[in-house]
This record gives sequence, structure tokens and C-alpha cells, in this order.
Amino acid sequence: MAIETSCDDTSAAVVRDGRQVLSNVISSQIEFHKKFGGVVPEIASRKHLETVELVIQEALEQAKMTFSDIDAVGVTYGPGLIGALLVGLSAAKAIALALGKPLIGVNHIEGHISANYIAEPSLVPPFLCLVVSGGHTYIVKTEDYCKYEIIGRTRDDAAGEAFDKIARTLGLGYPGGPAIDKRAAYGQAYIEFPKAAIHDHPYDFSFSGLKTAVLNYINNLRQRGQEISIDDIAASFQKAVVDVLVEKTVNAALKYNINTVAMAGGVAANSALRKAMMDASKRYGFRFIYPQPILCTDNAAMIGSAAFFRWMKGDISDLFLNAVANVSL
Ligand code: KG4
Ligand code: ZN
Repeated sequence: MAIETSCDDTSAAVVRDGRQVLSNVISSQIEFHKKFGGVVPEIASRKHLETVELVIQEALEQAKMTFSDIDAVGVTYGPGLIGALLVGLSAAKAIALALGKPLIGVNHIEGHISANYIAEPSLVPPFLCLVVSGGHTYIVKTEDYCKYEIIGRTRDDAAGEAFDKIARTLGLGYPGGPAIDKRAAYGQAYIEFPKAAIHDHPYDFSFSGLKTAVLNYINNLRQRGQEISIDDIAASFQKAVVDVLVEKTVNAALKYNINTVAMAGGVAANSALRKAMMDASKRYGFRFIYPQPILCTDNAAMIGSAAFFRWMKGDISDLFLNAVANVSL
């Protein structure tokens, strides 16, 4: 069993052997955060507390199991919102203690990467993974199960954060990624926004310049009283992000001679990014793996997968495991 409460989704899942999802119940809090334009940490913790037990029960029911069928309990301990993490962690500890079964703390980013083991049961390391979520942007070399080397990272905003900020300016609400994805499908990507290059670190990203350029473009149009095409801006911004993500990931795969490329995190659900990576994989001849959208955004099944491989390595946590807001992979 796995539990995930790091941000605004309360989720519990039952996963077999790290690859097979027997249930993956996700209760989204978006409705409660929407009117504030982003996740309110205090509301997130309270909502997790209200729903976590129900979600766990539902995960067992859907898997046609009872607690006695559970062999181990995996849980996200960080990174994430501290109060939110503590709710899932306390629930997981209680279950592990009551059942006398191992508790396995999972890094949320490792969970995202592990969604690919579910997406493609034949996937084994080594592989390269582009991790693009609301809080993180990494190019990661998965050398072995649970063994990672970070090759590139963002210098400022995460890819998802850029989507959310631009969407807010365009009045598209929260979360911004799915809204921009939808609107971009109707627009033309003709506006040339800058693609930040960091010359001394070819696999690092920067999205703050792009964000400022889009905001300036919108403000200029508004000042001149010109019409703003939300669809075209969404398409052009999205293309600028997708182009740089794909280019750097492909360059890293070529440089490190890795022929399997995976993708993870909420932004990996983006339709333009999926298509561009698919095209690039054909052009450069690498194998491309990506989880279905529900396994890209936050969910407990991916945590269950990561927990399984940690467990197999004997990496078991004790009941003093604490939540950590900032923890790297
Ligand atoms: O992985 P995730 O669910 O949570 C974090 O760990 O951060 O990622 C959420 C992020 C949000 O910024 C959201 O706007 C973005 O993923 N996102 C998308 C799409 N779906 C979710 N971004 C672009 N296109 C999408 N279709
Ligand atoms: Zn996440």
C-alpha cells in the first residue's frame, strides 16, 4: 500500500511487485484552492486529514483486499508541503505499526520517475528521465533502481510553475498547465519568445526570462489597446517550453549514450511535450516511455512502485521517519 499527500491530492494505492496497479484512488483538492489561485498549505493539510482514511479504505476496496493482505506501506516523506506530508506519513506509520509491516519512506521525485516502471513493465535501468512537475525540473540519469545522477536542473522556476504563472496572467485559473495545454491546441505558435540557454551548463534550465518576456508581451498589447489572442500566446509559450525541454533531454541522451528516455511529473501530461518527445525519439532512434496522464500528476501508485524497489534493496524506514519539506533526489 502507498500513500501520497505531499501537495493537493490525497491518494492511496495498492501496487503489486512495483509494476501492477491494483487500485489508485486520488481525491483532488483543486476545487478548494482554485479561488485562491494556487495551493493554500493550511487548507491542504486540513483536507488531507478529512479524506485520507476514506481514500485508504477505497484503495483497499477497489483492490478487493483488506489490511491483512498488505505486505508493506510506502509513503511520501518529502519534498512537499510539511503539514500535508505529515498527514500521509502519520497514517502510513499507524498502518505499518498496527500491521507489523515495514514502512518505506519515498522521495516524491523518485515516485514520479517510478511511474515509468508501471507505464512500461519491461523498463529496467539505465534510462534518462525528464522530470517536470510543479516544483521541480530535472534531467535525471537513473543508473540503477533507486540510484540517480542529476544531470540538469532549473536555475529558477520549475516548468509547471511557469505554466501556472502564465495561465494566471492570462486569466485561465489554477492549475495552469492543463488550461494552457487546451487553449494552445486552438492557437498558432508564431510569437518568438526567448529560449534561455545556459552556456556553461548545457543541461540546466531557466524559465524566468521566458516568463518575463510573455508578461511584457501581454502588457504591451494591453497598453496599446490591442487584442490579445490567449490561444496564440498559450501556443507560443508552450512551444518555447517544450522546445527547450526536448532539445536538452535529447542532447543529454546523446552525450551520455543512453537509448531509453522516460518522462515524469505533471507537465509530462502535456500533449505538445508528449508529441515532440515522440517525434524526437523517432528522429534520434531512442526508446521513449511516458506514463499515462493520471500517473504523471501526483498519485500514490507511483509511490507504491518506488517503495517496492526501495524495499527490495532493504531500504526500510523506522517509525521515527519525519517529513522533510525540501529534500533532493
Ligand atoms: O507532479 P505534479 O502533479 O505536482 C508536483 O509534484 O508539483 O505537477 C503539477 C504541475 C502543475 O504545475 C500543473 O500546471 C502541471 O503540472 N500540469 C501540466 C499539465 N497537467 C499538469 N502542465 C502542462 N500541461 C499539462 N497538461
Ligand atoms: Zn508531484
